[in-house]
Amino acid sequence: MALLIKGGYLVDPSRNLEGLFDLLVENGKVSKVGRNLKPPPGAEILDARGCVVAPAFVDLHAHLRDPGYTYKEDIESGSRAAVFGGFTTVVSMPNTEPETDDPAVVRYQIMRAAEVGLVRLLPAAALTKGRKGRELTEFCALKEAGAVALTDDGTTPTDEALLRTAFEWAADCGLLIMDHAEIPALSRGHLNEGKVSALLGLEGRSRAAEAVAVARDGYLAQITGARLHVQHVTAKETVELLKLFKEKGVSITAEVNPNHLLLTEEAVLKYGSLAKVNPPLRTEEDRRALIEALADGTIDCVGTDHAPHAPHEKERPLDEAPPGMLGFQVALPALVALYNEGLISLRRLVEVLSTVPAKILGLHPELGTLREGTVADVVVFDLKKEWVFDERTNPSKSRNSPFFGRKLVGKVVYTIKEGRVVYRFGA
Ligand code: DOR
Ligand code: ZN
Repeated sequence: MALLIKGGYLVDPSRNLEGLFDLLVENGKVSKVGRNLKPPPGAEILDARGCVVAPAFVDLHAHLRDPGYTYKEDIESGSRAAVFGGFTTVVSMPNTEPETDDPAVVRYQIMRAAEVGLVRLLPAAALTKGRKGRELTEFCALKEAGAVALTDDGTTPTDEALLRTAFEWAADCGLLIMDHAEIPALSRGHLNEGKVSALLGLEGRSRAAEAVAVARDGYLAQITGARLHVQHVTAKETVELLKLFKEKGVSITAEVNPNHLLLTEEAVLKYGSLAKVNPPLRTEEDRRALIEALADGTIDCVGTDHAPHAPHEKERPLDEAPPGMLGFQVALPALVALYNEGLISLRRLVEVLSTVPAKILGLHPELGTLREGTVADVVVFDLKKEWVFDERTNPSKSRNSPFFGRKLVGKVVYTIKEGRVVYRFGA
């Protein structure tokens, strides 16, 4: 079945291409990019006038909760939320039940996602058994089962000797290490250690927790040659460390989450537990530093940290509620807000959501590009469209977001995976 995406503004940073182009998809592949393309007989035509056409988004950081916590989300609802946000490739986090520390769980996740058929699910497996930080998992067996990365996301091991071995093994078997960079002893609290934690009389999570972890893990990457990806960067000191390691040529990349680009610690006063996330929302100075780092490439890309939790969990007091917010649905609006403020270019917006995360994965040279002959994973989005994130639009099983019930600007109109339309706005 052929598909002609007509009249859109195509942005493909992978080949420096930007302009009004039609895009023809045949047999699941991009077959032609050009002007005034004619549809082959029987082709479906998608009207993309007024919209951006780009390689579909790639998320390096999402919690799909399956197996084990399927009352929050499962692979089916999570896949629907992903394509709603323009993502066709998703790296899932291992804090499931059982934990994703065994090849059988990895195989289940890949098989279930294939059954649902909406996204390409690439599991991250746990670095340590049960994410307890005591015993390493079997990296090569996990990789053979289909895991693309290792992380104890939610926490980080504190045994440096174990970590050093982990980095050596990961380098040997070519797996990416993803780093929830927060030293536990420095992050016992529930929100940023600062003005708001003092006001509420609650223990805070230190910004040093992140910097110390990144310093530790950056050096481990340097001495072992492992590839390190720092998850959810939140603090300006971390940005400085990333610059240092990059200057030295260490294999280090980093992501920022939509929530840290849009919100600061004050959000906790307004939204309570809904604004609780680990690592926490920080200050306006940090937020500005993150945006600047995202624009200049010190922070490589955006990961959503899509982290669904049920209402009865998020309605608990701040010190008891689990951390996390929905991410797939607000990633594009967050970047459109920065674009509208003149803080990032349209090209950079596409890079950070697609081109760069695809490159970091490294395993799929066909992703994150619209080059002829590559797999047709395409997103069509409207930079101006206003929509309300609410019960009627939300495909997730959960609704834990400070943006729920609010009007957002910037919406994915079509998501296409391997030449098939897997999401249409309003359908
Ligand atoms: O806010 C967070 N939520 N941070 C994490 O590291 C884990 C995640 C979750 O699983 O909900
Ligand atoms: Zn995390």
